[in-house]
Amino acid sequence: MLRKWIVSAPSNIALIKYMGKEDSSLNLPANSSLSMTLDQLCTWVEIERNSFGSDGVLFIPELPRELDRSFNPTVPALKEAGVQRMIRHVKRVQESVHSLFPQYGLTAEAGGQIEIRTANTFPASSGIASSASSFAAVTLASALAFCKDPDLFQKIWQGNPEFKRDLAQISRQGSGSSCRSFEGPWVLWEGATATPVKSALPEMTDLVLLISRDSKEISSSEAHSLVRTSPLWEGRVARAQERIGALRTALASGDRIAVSKIAWTEMWEMHSLFHTCEVPFTYWEPDTIRVLRWLRGILTSAPEWAPPPIVTLDAGPNIHLIVESSQAAEWKGLLKEKFPDLPLLEDTQGSGVKAVY
Ligand code: DP6
Repeated sequence: MLRKWIVSAPSNIALIKYMGKEDSSLNLPANSSLSMTLDQLCTWVEIERNSFGSDGVLFIPELPRELDRSFNPTVPALKEAGVQRMIRHVKRVQESVHSLFPQYGLTAEAGGQIEIRTANTFPASSGIASSASSFAAVTLASALAFCKDPDLFQKIWQGNPEFKRDLAQISRQGSGSSCRSFEGPWVLWEGATATPVKSALPEMTDLVLLISRDSKEISSSEAHSLVRTSPLWEGRVARAQERIGALRTALASGDRIAVSKIAWTEMWEMHSLFHTCEVPFTYWEPDTIRVLRWLRGILTSAPEWAPPPIVTLDAGPNIHLIVESSQAAEWKGLLKEKFPDLPLLEDTQGSGVKAVY
């Protein structure tokens, strides 16, 4: 029997960063992190399982066959190591569902030939991290493919938040930040588990200034171990935990100024870890510094019409400005006027990974 599933998962952007691991085989973080889930910047995964075929997982580097092409999807250019990491993860899901499914009255059905096709909605080589969205999508798609009763799976997925959290834990073992893409819009990842958190902020939009499209010289997985060699690592976990508490309070009360300050300090701290480790490195480009200098002024005296933007950078040179969706057009106008040479991506907050069919 041939079965096919299509799943889409958004990326997410952390304000308090997952940087440094407590256990790298399970991707348990050194500190908690807190992020906003995006909506349209996502990965689509199509999985076909032919239960009569011989056992095996194949990654096919072409667009999912039944995908809406109007949004110009691109096939991620995975190197061999990336393909192997994805295949290992599908096998991890296959093993994990044997003990997980019975807890929810589901039956696992392993074996057969698995074919995976994946596409991103963000432009190829845009410098936007895709490991969170791709591992979240592959986890849900392969769990569905290994389930004997997919209709019941969908019902439990809709009705039982614990089931979603358990799948997010499996996803985390493939790539840590992917566990935060299972919920939205605001998500706290503590220890093994990611859960949604309360926010009184209005709907938010992420504007991304694309400074470089080159792929990173140092992967985020490498950065997780390098930061431990920085003298600033001492006290890092306590500082991050303290910021988590402050950020939760600020989000719950909708205190935009406090959220912006916390995110700005945290971003500088993570990049300072990179800049001070034993063999220092940077993700910043000259344009990153040009924009950060300008933003410093904006953050100390924001335009009259708006509260300060929430500014952050991942392990890369691109700059995220999270602003109220109702003011996104004004911010875009200002950014285009100030930095006409820098392309801009835009996405709103979202609710996490979902099965399309
Ligand atoms: C800088 O989730 O990519 O984006 O678990 O090794 O796959 P692995 O790392 P990954 O790390 C993301 C790091 C970050 C910060 C964040 O998203 O919290």
